[in-house]
Amino acid sequence: MAPAKFNIKTASSFFLVLYATMILLFALPCFSSDPDPLQDFCVADLNSTTTTVNGYPCKPESQGTSKDFIYSGLVEEASTDNPEGVGGRLGNVKSFPGINTLGISVSRIDLALGGIVPLHVHPRASEINYIVKGEVNFGFISTSNVLYSGVVKAGQMSVVPRGLVHYAKNVGGEKAVVLGILNSQLPGSVLIPSNIFASNPTIPNGVLAKNFRVDETVIANIKSNIKTATSFFLVLYSTMILFFALPCFSSDPDPLQDFCVADLSSTSTIVNGYSCKPASTVTSNDFFYSGLMNETSTANLFGFGATQGDVTTFPGLNTQGLSINRLDLAPGGIIPLHSHPRASEANFIVKGEVTFGFITTNNVVYSKLMKAGELNIIPRGLVHFAKNVGQEKAFILAILNSQLPGFSTIPLNLFGSSPAIPNDILAKNFQVNESVIASIKSKFGN
Ligand SMILES: *[C@@H]1O[C@H](CO)[C@@H](O)[C@H](O)[C@H]1NC(C)=O
Ligand SMILES: *[C@@H]1O[C@H](CO)[C@@H](O)[C@H](O)[C@H]1NC(C)=O
Ligand SMILES: *[C@@H]1O[C@H](CO)[C@@H](O)[C@H](O)[C@H]1NC(C)=O
Repeated sequence: MAPAKFNIKTASSFFLVLYATMILLFALPCFSSDPDPLQDFCVADLNSTTTTVNGYPCKPESQGTSKDFIYSGLVEEASTDNPEGVGGRLGNVKSFPGINTLGISVSRIDLALGGIVPLHVHPRASEINYIVKGEVNFGFISTSNVLYSGVVKAGQMSVVPRGLVHYAKNVGGEKAVVLGILNSQLPGSVLIPSNIFASNPTIPNGVLAKNFRVDETVIANIKSNIKTATSFFLVLYSTMILFFALPCFSSDPDPLQDFCVADLSSTSTIVNGYSCKPASTVTSNDFFYSGLMNETSTANLFGFGATQGDVTTFPGLNTQGLSINRLDLAPGGIIPLHSHPRASEANFIVKGEVTFGFITTNNVVYSKLMKAGELNIIPRGLVHFAKNVGQEKAFILAILNSQLPGFSTIPLNLFGSSPAIPNDILAKNFQVNESVIASIKSKFGN
């Protein structure tokens, strides 16, 4: 295979032209974001036989329960007993129907010693990989064939722009556990090796031989090896591949380039996100982030600490439609009532016992106690809250499908605004007298 690799590297110009054109054509009719939901949530009715166009039809809202928004399927390790040494548990709409229409999913990836996640592409999502345990080498390849790669350790993460080929390898001395976080409820995966060498019907050997500039016998040999590999991925992603043909599923506005590492110091006019650093100054480091490794102080009124992994701290996320924050809660600590105007949120409990809840526009509360390894979903824009109900500190990863989701804290919004909302208005809203309002305001510095 070494000669093939050499030849591929040198045969680039035709594809650069071809795909540069295609990217422009592709982007033009697809300016859409994910279709904005017209309801708070839409728990997927996976059994429905109704024709589906984009996602699944909803279960009747009256049948929704708190359980629909919590998922425990990522708690247990997945078997890595296969040639690649990789196992996975998917937290997409098929296993976790509560995320239907919410534009986010989280999966667990287990890697044996030396195990790999084979080369693949998610056509509909950018991805953050957060390392729970171990040391993993991640790499992605831009459309200009530049490889950006690096090793990440527990608590660190990397970002992979939507649609680019990427891979991972466990390079540590123990099993690795990774959370693969994607900004689509069903991101789809094209596994490159089987896509190319084990398709049905098969791509003719002559075509592949010409593509890879090798002899047809080399192709035949690769094909027979790929076919005999009992790949976990063949099973894992076969169901997703059905969805490829559907049009325009994107989350945030479609970028017109592979990435746009934010130039946080730029003084250019900012319209939506940041301007890009010159591509020539971008390095692998721009796509890796270590800022969530350390606990955040919880020594405050709420017993709550947060460290942001959004575009302001991790500029590689610019235009990628994803962010991930670290939340620490002291025993008894709360995350105050708040909402994110621009993102749905998935919360993964790394440590501790936390009650999470959200409130619908009909004032129904869906809440549940969650333990380590469990996942929940908070629909975009809805008010939500959390409390550490365990004896130890809790550690949560809050994953949002926006590079800058916004954080409206209800108590501060109402009682700590600048200028202050007049007391008579608040008194009328909350049906108390103005001295009660004044007393609450004084606690928030107003
Ligand atoms: C789908 O049908 C199966 C078998 O009838 C049932 O066990 C399951 O609860 C149904 N799922 C949903 C989401 O309605
Ligand atoms: C974490 O804390 C250690 C010890 O205080 C410090 O040396 C290190 O720089 C911190 N790491 C990050 C990413 O903040
Ligand atoms: C305002 O309401 C509180 C609580 O009901 C009550 O204790 C207080 O006396 C009231 N103050 C005035 C000025 O009416």
